[in-house]
Amino acid sequence: MLRVMASGCAYSLAGMFARLLSSRRVTGGGIVRVPIIAGNWKMNGTRSEAIQLASAIATAAPTRPLPGNAVAKGVAAAEIVVCPPSCYLECVSQATQGSQIRLGAQNVHHESQGAYTGEISATMAQDLGASFVILGHSERRTLFAETNEFIHRKVHAVLGRGLCPIVCVGEILEQRESGRTVEVVREQFLGSCADLTREQMLRVVVAYEPVWAIGTGRVATPAQAEEVHSQLRQVIEQKYDRHVADAVRIQYGGSVNAANASELLRQPNVDGALVGGASLQAESFLVIVAAANETAA
Ligand code: 13P
Repeated sequence: MLRVMASGCAYSLAGMFARLLSSRRVTGGGIVRVPIIAGNWKMNGTRSEAIQLASAIATAAPTRPLPGNAVAKGVAAAEIVVCPPSCYLECVSQATQGSQIRLGAQNVHHESQGAYTGEISATMAQDLGASFVILGHSERRTLFAETNEFIHRKVHAVLGRGLCPIVCVGEILEQRESGRTVEVVREQFLGSCADLTREQMLRVVVAYEPVWAIGTGRVATPAQAEEVHSQLRQVIEQKYDRHVADAVRIQYGGSVNAANASELLRQPNVDGALVGGASLQAESFLVIVAAANETAA
């Protein structure tokens, strides 16, 4: 069985072995997709709250049974990422040191340095401990007028630093109601990930986040999520090939919580969750992580 870590980020051998044994997402081509649960903390919390939350998640990060009832301490089947505000990346990095928790930034600028007041670069995010960067979130697209073209430059900047972009796509309600969902997410995906090589694409995580579901409590049904995820996978296959399409992880985001995560994560093409509100409490976030571990067991 060929195991592709779609993010392409470095892992310890023990961690890789544990994940290899655990994931159920073995495709027809024998590729394993490890579920990825990422918490997008957005602009919330103080420094001490960030440390507290990160420590609670790191300490309680689930142990996972290995064959023969052995337990790999601190190794979860799912990959866990927390994305604090950029000013807290460093303290969260320290608070999660030695755990399996990985760090993501919520945004970066596409330039590596220069006169861009208020921005941080991919290099800086990496310097503070990030291995992932959320890009093209609907809040950035809407409130900060980010276009696919602009996001595309950021995707390249992030990949150029060896980090993994989490590229968000999603339709607004009106687009869904007029039957344009697939067309919209297709255009966002192709525009944001234009001209990536196969190898670069294998390091991208795609997040399908219907805008009408973000922060509204109105979650997509598992069937709605599965439908869009499988269509996105087809778009990836058309652009690359079956192998890449099978390997790229597609997360769902939008009102994911402790109660609805399990059913969403059981969908064959839902490879994890990008969690907003419910990631601000260790308890609810860990329930979502546990649900991902269950689907991967
Ligand atoms: P909520 O989980 O609060 O709906 O936010 C989703 C989101 O925007 C994650 O990036």
